[in-house]
Amino acid sequence: MLMTDAVRDEAQNFVITIENTGESFKCQPDRHLISAMSRMGKKGIPSGCQGGGCGVCKIQINSGVYDTKKMSRAHVSADEEASGSVLACRVFPRSDLSLSVIGKLQKNIVKKSTKTPWSTS
Ligand code: FES
Repeated sequence: MLMTDAVRDEAQNFVITIENTGESFKCQPDRHLISAMSRMGKKGIPSGCQGGGCGVCKIQINSGVYDTKKMSRAHVSADEEASGSVLACRVFPRSDLSLSVIGKLQKNIVKKSTKTPWSTS
């Protein structure tokens, strides 16, 4: 049986959950997380270098299986990498993942609002 591209693409997607916001997005195994995250259409996702060098896309992976490519040690130490702190532009999912955005990415993804719905100021 032949699969259409749409069916094949859907079958290869993993669900990535951002714990800070409860949002999720889909990512194919051959696409790095920041690329798939930017397709959510959410404002504030930095484009950065997309090569593991600038550190703006730092995240903490809390569960799931993934592969990484080389990352700058100036932004992710070996110990951090071993504990799941990685650069989203260098991470490729191999299962559904749950992550937290940290560092500069957190400021853009998790909007801090001091206003309440009933606030008049
Ligand atoms: S975008 Fe520069 S390290 Fe990820």
